[in-house]
Amino acid sequence: MNLSPYINKNRERFTNELIELLKIPSVSADPAYQASVLEAAQFTCEKLKEAGCEIAEVIATDGYPVVYGEKLIDPNLPTVLVYGHYDVQPPDPIELWESGPFEPVIKTSELHPEGAIYARGACDDKGQFFMHVKAFEAMMAENQLPCNIKFMIEGEEEVGSDSLGAFLDANKEKLSSDIILISDTGMISRDIPSIQTGLRGLSYVEVEVTGPNRDLHSGVYGGAVVNPINALSNMIASLHDEKGRITVTGFYDKVIELSASERAAMAAVPFDQNDYNKHLDVEDVSGEQGYSTTERASIRPTLDVNGIWGGYTGEGAKTVLPSKAYAKISMRLIPDQDYNEITRLFTEHFLAIAPKGVRVKVTPHHGGAPYVTPIDSIGYLAAEQALETTFGVKPVPQRGGGSIPIVALFESVLGVKSVLMGFGLDSDAIHSPNEHFGLFNYYKGIETIPHFFKAFTELMSGAKK
Ligand code: BES
Ligand code: MN
Ligand code: MN
Repeated sequence: MNLSPYINKNRERFTNELIELLKIPSVSADPAYQASVLEAAQFTCEKLKEAGCEIAEVIATDGYPVVYGEKLIDPNLPTVLVYGHYDVQPPDPIELWESGPFEPVIKTSELHPEGAIYARGACDDKGQFFMHVKAFEAMMAENQLPCNIKFMIEGEEEVGSDSLGAFLDANKEKLSSDIILISDTGMISRDIPSIQTGLRGLSYVEVEVTGPNRDLHSGVYGGAVVNPINALSNMIASLHDEKGRITVTGFYDKVIELSASERAAMAAVPFDQNDYNKHLDVEDVSGEQGYSTTERASIRPTLDVNGIWGGYTGEGAKTVLPSKAYAKISMRLIPDQDYNEITRLFTEHFLAIAPKGVRVKVTPHHGGAPYVTPIDSIGYLAAEQALETTFGVKPVPQRGGGSIPIVALFESVLGVKSVLMGFGLDSDAIHSPNEHFGLFNYYKGIETIPHFFKAFTELMSGAKK
């Protein structure tokens, strides 16, 4: 199978179509962008139709709609369900972007001599799911689609996929498949492909600490009345002990420790602490004692403040003892932690450590379960073969630290496993200003995906015999 001539011939159009998609500011977190989120769904649906889907539809959910597409060629052949998301993170802080977050531009750099597209969602996940649409187009155009294909591209991944449980329940038949293929993660580097074998779960909460019934003069009342920002800071500081462990009572009860051999396998994955520090402009890193950086960022649970505010944050100085203080806190979870239970444990703990003189409220946002994929499944082997074909080296299995809440639901509701074949790089700045996606990565993805379909179909037919 050689689709390269078709892909090369259409290279410029493939880039331009992605650029059109990136111009649509489909920010799911902010209702002000609602019309654009819906527009991105329509655009995606059109592209699926143009690429060759027999059915392509925008299906309403309780939240943002799911774009569904399918091309079924033979009920006796396997079915691959491609998942991705057309929604993106908010662009903030907007002043740190070198070009508009929704005005895509191509720029070259040392790492990307062929150029990279800069825009919110370029890598996460518009650039990555669109590779699948274009790979499918190429397979259709060249009569090389080896099995059935379905697409499910959702619009609320970045806000926790809250409506998707009900959507999966109601559409089990429609979504029936043998494997779910996802490009919404990264690889180690341009020359070292990897397959992610795990995602962390998530519990996300907002806390509110209330002190006096109004803002007070910090000279007249300061020192005598509990300052909610001081109190919140102390409470947050106490959530980690001196060994970097989380102090929430019961937090580690369900944590499964990796075996020595699993940890040795992880340690063999290429990683350079100096490069890592240099890229982030930090002198050193720290975290839970007894674990490496790679482990801390993937196989260990975490607790992080994502935002904190209260009092006066405007220009100049205003002397005020604020009435309220707030923070948004995320906890990344690993097997077998349950996000509902962790949310409950956090809430109980946070209320218990509040000093006298303040009231505390904890509001849960969203959650998701962790997921670990097998590395001996047909899906994994097909991804391994595909990546080896296009990169010339065997991909490395790698546990990841991010979360994609629907992946665990795919397994529990549909009973189908997922393969995480991502083409992003850690330097792509997802969720950050100046997010980008290398053209190298985009076209490597488009080249590799058809090989996955071919390998998966062959391996499945071998397994049947
Ligand atoms: N694509 C990311 C998740 C990801 C990134 C996994 C890199 C592995 C490597 C996804 O869009 C994401 O950002 N998920 C959120 C989850 C959420 C908002 C519920 C996350 O991980 O913060
Ligand atoms: Mn994503
Ligand atoms: Mn994301």
